[in-house]
Amino acid sequence: MDRILIEGGVPLSGLVEISGAKNAALPIMAASLLSEEPLALDNVPDLADIGSMRRLLQELGVEIRHPPARPRSLVLHCPEVLDTTAPYDIVRKMRASVLVLGPLVARAGTARVSLPGGCAIGPRPIDLHLEGLAKMGAEIRLEGGYVEARAPRGLRGARIRFPQPSVGATENLMMAASLARGETVIEEAAQEPEIVDLAACLAAMGARIEGAGTSTVRIEGVARLHGARHAVLPDRIETGTYVMAAAITGGRLQLRHARLELFGAAAETLAEAGVALAETAEGLEAGRSRDGLTGVDVRTLPFPGFATDLQAQFMALMCIAEGAAMITETIFENRFMHVPELMRMGARITVHGRTALVRGVPALKGAPVMATDLRASVSLVLAALAAEGQTEINRIYHLDRGYERIEQKLAAVGARIERVP
Ligand code: EPZ
Repeated sequence: MDRILIEGGVPLSGLVEISGAKNAALPIMAASLLSEEPLALDNVPDLADIGSMRRLLQELGVEIRHPPARPRSLVLHCPEVLDTTAPYDIVRKMRASVLVLGPLVARAGTARVSLPGGCAIGPRPIDLHLEGLAKMGAEIRLEGGYVEARAPRGLRGARIRFPQPSVGATENLMMAASLARGETVIEEAAQEPEIVDLAACLAAMGARIEGAGTSTVRIEGVARLHGARHAVLPDRIETGTYVMAAAITGGRLQLRHARLELFGAAAETLAEAGVALAETAEGLEAGRSRDGLTGVDVRTLPFPGFATDLQAQFMALMCIAEGAAMITETIFENRFMHVPELMRMGARITVHGRTALVRGVPALKGAPVMATDLRASVSLVLAALAAEGQTEINRIYHLDRGYERIEQKLAAVGARIERVP
């Protein structure tokens, strides 16, 4: 298994290209199942999770090709759905596989998707996806670890109110509702920028969607969707990670394609914490403010609140801030797996339930550490970049799921980072 070695202490400086958003690309790729015409996507990041989604879609009948000379583009074409099962082996590796459920039932009238089960950050049920589809007329059965959804006469529009926003359920139901008969209204919908991007792609395919990006989304079903071309939006979590890499090392980075408005409340929290952020002609410039890093309390919340996917990175930053920071995770039950690893590097953190109290220390020290999930892993990379001495990060396959060419991007701005087999 590969490891990453980082020799900390270099202020990063230079230009980083921000890739397309993994969490927008995954549902948008699944949307290719909704039409018999080709969907051309640009700005698709080259990541392990994208590879898993490609393999799953290919098994279901989607032909996928890279247009020559466009390495970031994919054309996905599903003339006919050949299989309606998302097998355990793929779903357990990548939970986003459940995003084929809505499109398959809507287009083929049936779907069999393995239940994803828990993962490193908590139990993560899919009940809201299933209840929504049931309201739209699908018969749902659970058997042998699989969800079977059937709507042989097609789905119908429905009024669906989530008890709390769910990104994946909003996406699955928006896709299903695009081909349902009549109007679907989703209340307490998730408002993440990735939902807006999926809606834009569906609209380009002929779907009639209003309100994406607000808490109420209305979808008027159409009989068929057609081909389209869509560019995936830039990755706000990758952006936030590099912003914090600049701040934690006391360096300055230009982030090409980054967009400040995709941060929501995180922009203000970062500024309060002493991260200098400025919009530029090409994207964003990030560094540390003159007054240095200060402890700031934060609660993760659905968008536009502070993203749970930036919590681990922010905790790494707070480890060397002046004063204390209380970090509360409200989205996932078990998303503090990075805490004991950061503590091995000298961080002072106390966890009480879903709250972690981080007391800043003058410096972190390199140590061997282990990555446990995608964002936890990258928080260790950030800590290592700032630490004195060498850090060895193990189990880095998590990083490859969500950060495109991370060691090349960091090395190009001065980091002493190396991947070793
Ligand atoms: C998406 O996961 C992202 N994944 C996650 O990114 C992200 O952390 C999460 O949204 C929150 O922003 C993708 O977009 C592929 P949810 P998703 O449904 O859709 C509960 C990363 O690191 N819930 O919004 O699975 C759930 O357990 C990943 O890139 C139910 O109870 O998240 C959680 O507590 C990790 N029942 C909360 O809702 C359901 O049916 C929000 O989950 C669905 C969700």
